[in-house]
Amino acid sequence: MRPLLLLCLATSACLAQAKPGPVKAGPEIIAEASAKLIAALTEAIAKDGPASAIGVCSQRAPEIAITVGKAHGVTLRRASEKPRNPKNDATDAEKILLTAFAADLEKKQPPKPQSVTNPDQGTTVFAPIVISNPLCLQCHGAPDQDIAPPTLAAIRKLYPGDKATGYKTGDLRGLWSVTFPAKP
Ligand code: HEC
Repeated sequence: MRPLLLLCLATSACLAQAKPGPVKAGPEIIAEASAKLIAALTEAIAKDGPASAIGVCSQRAPEIAITVGKAHGVTLRRASEKPRNPKNDATDAEKILLTAFAADLEKKQPPKPQSVTNPDQGTTVFAPIVISNPLCLQCHGAPDQDIAPPTLAAIRKLYPGDKATGYKTGDLRGLWSVTFPAKP
């Protein structure tokens, strides 16, 4: 493996090949899905308020992940150690990355996307989701302080096991993962 890697690092052909790969494409796909999601949320909140936007989010978030993923031939998901939707509960691999991202934040270093390649499953790019937008706190901040009572009621109705509150700006909320399938 090692001589190949060195060869790879030493040749521009290899670099050219590496360019359009997961490391570059992953964050772009995430940016696209994230922008779509924030646009959907912002629109829903402006139209009917955050309590109604909960329903929109619960429907649109998985839809956007599927549509954007399909368009790029990848699997896209969001995960957290404190999920709202139990389907988004972090896997063991995701927990390792979340711990690393949290350690970076602790050291006041911005966490960077990481890629992990597995010969059978392909390459997964993991990117941190840090709360940087005050919009997020309307549904993930302190109950009754940041989250209005009708919004909290709507969250508890749809997600009885919700763990995704109590966040502040700058906190790690979770991660995006983009998996590029292994070449056959
Ligand atoms: C209108 C309320 C609302 C707002 C605003 C909102 N979220 Fe969420 N968030 C939700 C709901 C509802 C879910 C569960 C979606 C699902 O069922 O997949 C969720 C899920 C998530 C998840 C997936 C993990 C989990 O907990 O299930 C992440 C990560 C996340 N939100 C981050 C953010 C960030 C970052 C922002 C700000 C840009 C934000 N959210 C703004 C309601 C909201």
